[in-house]
Amino acid sequence: MRLRTVAWLVSLLALAACAQAGARQRAHGLRLATEMGCISCHGEKLDGHVFEENAQFAFAWSSNLSRILPGLSNAQIDQTLRTGKRMDGTPLWFMPTFVHRRLSHEDMQDLIAWLRTVPPTGQLHPPIKFGPLFKAALAQGFQNSADEAARLAARNPADLGQQYAKGRYLASITCAECHGPDLKGPRNPQPGDAPDLMVAATYSPAGFERLVRTGIKQDGSKAVLMGEEAPKRLSIMTSAEIESIRLYLGKRPAR
Ligand code: HEC
Ligand code: HEC
Repeated sequence: MRLRTVAWLVSLLALAACAQAGARQRAHGLRLATEMGCISCHGEKLDGHVFEENAQFAFAWSSNLSRILPGLSNAQIDQTLRTGKRMDGTPLWFMPTFVHRRLSHEDMQDLIAWLRTVPPTGQLHPPIKFGPLFKAALAQGFQNSADEAARLAARNPADLGQQYAKGRYLASITCAECHGPDLKGPRNPQPGDAPDLMVAATYSPAGFERLVRTGIKQDGSKAVLMGEEAPKRLSIMTSAEIESIRLYLGKRPAR
């Protein structure tokens, strides 16, 4: 083979490897967008929908990301997700920024790589209309996503060392949105609230995987909210990921 042909072959192989790495990155990004609820809250096409429809409290849309993200650089999307503020400094509401800020650099890059594959569609939505009871909610502690993330920044799930790091990380970026920043649930849980995930220690591996994929509890009943969200969001996780979460959660109460 002539030297030129060899050089050409080598660069072709490098290109193919690059394309494969890009496809892997986008596929992982789609998994993250699913399990982190971007798709639940912003829609399959990321074009947004009515999110809160209570004239007394607020009328809010989830943003049409398919139109907004092309106007932002990767660094700006990263910054918006980690801070809970737009580039003009206005804070976002209802966004689980306290969870998004925990994404690793690599996962953030993969997520953005997938977000960029979604074509622009639909219209931009109007800003939130605040109702008369919104002020009262603020007085009771309701916060925008940026302030909430700052308040919760120190409430992380217990660190049980390298052996449990993967399960801890996955639970921090998925389960924490509903089960609380430290996975301990609300201080005074009411029926139907997402509880302290200590309860996971009572599950068998198979029962736990069924719960995460379907929202069906070990007593056979369907969990509130999780019954709808688990099949849509969490069932995309691999069995190894679900087991790493179970192992981490099972270890927490022992400490
Ligand atoms: C619990 C629902 C919810 C989840 C989960 C969620 N979002 Fe949002 N997001 C919203 C709402 C509602 C808004 C509009 C906030 C506002 O107008 O103040 C928003 C706004 C945004 C914005 C700001 C766009 C603008 O208007 O300038 C970006 C960017 C964004 N979301 C990206 C994401 C990504 C990426 C994910 C997943 C990692 C995600 N969101 C998950 C509800 C959600
Ligand atoms: C969209 C919100 C949401 C997300 C995300 C979520 N959960 Fe839940 N989860 C709930 C709610 C609400 C309940 C209480 C349901 C009930 O009591 O019927 C619950 C209940 C549970 C229970 C208790 C079941 C029982 O036997 O009482 C476990 C265990 C659990 N979730 C695990 C997880 C794990 C692990 C993740 C992340 C991989 C996760 N959840 C993500 C909302 C959520």
